[in-house]
Amino acid sequence: MRLMTHETDASARPARSRSNAGGVATVVAEDAASVQSATSVGEEATAVKSAMTLREDAAGVRSATKDPKDSKDSKVSKGSKGSKDSKGSMDSIDSMESIDYRTPVIRVADLVKDYSRGDNVVHALRSVSLSVGKGEFVAVMGPSGSGKSTFMNLIGCLDRPTSGSYELDGVEVTHLGPSQLADLRNQKIGFIFQGFNLLPRMDALDNVMLPMVYAGVPSQIRQRRAQVALEAVGLGERMHHRSNELSGGQQQRVAIARALVNAPSLILADEPTGNLDSRTSVEIMAILQRLNQAGATIVLVTHEPDIATYCSRTVVFKDGVVLSDHANQRVHSAAEALAA
Ligand SMILES: Nc1ncnc2c1ncn2[C@@H]1O[C@H](COP(=O)(O)OP(=O)(O)OP(=O)(O)O)[C@@H](O)[C@H]1O
Ligand SMILES: [Mg+2]
Repeated sequence: MRLMTHETDASARPARSRSNAGGVATVVAEDAASVQSATSVGEEATAVKSAMTLREDAAGVRSATKDPKDSKDSKVSKGSKGSKDSKGSMDSIDSMESIDYRTPVIRVADLVKDYSRGDNVVHALRSVSLSVGKGEFVAVMGPSGSGKSTFMNLIGCLDRPTSGSYELDGVEVTHLGPSQLADLRNQKIGFIFQGFNLLPRMDALDNVMLPMVYAGVPSQIRQRRAQVALEAVGLGERMHHRSNELSGGQQQRVAIARALVNAPSLILADEPTGNLDSRTSVEIMAILQRLNQAGATIVLVTHEPDIATYCSRTVVFKDGVVLSDHANQRVHSAAEALAA
């Protein structure tokens, strides 16, 4: 068990690439002022929400207005956003040296999660304590049933622990109510799931705009940000394809774009390559590595040791506890693997 992360040998990280991934953060920051001044945001969000029978409260204008300090560390060149050549545009923006081990994004201590099943209690997490520093890229591994998804659901504020503490960006979240948790998810967390979780009859653009509906972002801004996010993942030409017309890899890229649009400080990916062939998996890892190099903290669950080699740290769960936690000595570059 470890409370703080260790130093990772800089040479062990993949070669720094230049990425458009930070473009979304810049657009979000630029949009903040106009979102603040928009008057019909709440009404619009309510109308769209009820039309879609969305159950959760929109986080409101506040969550759409990212604190400028949250995006200051994305050294993004303005001229690069909106490039037509979406794959090429990924190489047009400065990345950053972003790992900051002194600023944990996640700090959990003695986290316990029990599920009741009839008369039985399943001890899904027994006592998990760990921290994830800003800018880390963590692989979570372990056998089926070891508690990986339970852990992700807790750190994603999708569920509450039975006991223990969880600080997200320095804020203790275990005592927050449902609407505060929904706000926090909107503001700080982007989710990517194995099954993509896209709405099949909506096109890529609408799927990517959805989290901004929750966040009460005006439609014009939603569209602009979604376009930038789709371009950042190489789908600039596929925006108006319905998600059920896209390949698995393309659907996962839409899901990544959707995870980016509110410029989250934390990206959580539960087996994002689980349904993909090996080359497409590496493509997805290349996008995630670029996002990480642009400043995102990422926690990714995988069963595949090869996939974990693209992350900078591996945490292994077993029977609801952390079995091991180590920096990866050699972090592979997915971009280089694709080029080889
Ligand atoms: N909603 C639930 N109700 C009851 N038990 C649950 C619930 N969710 C998970 N569990 C149990 O908690 C334990 C941990 O499950 P979890 O989904 O976290 O495992 P996992 O490591 O993600 O597994 P996999 O690799 O198969 O996805 C398992 O024993 C599982 O059956
Ligand atoms: Mg799981």
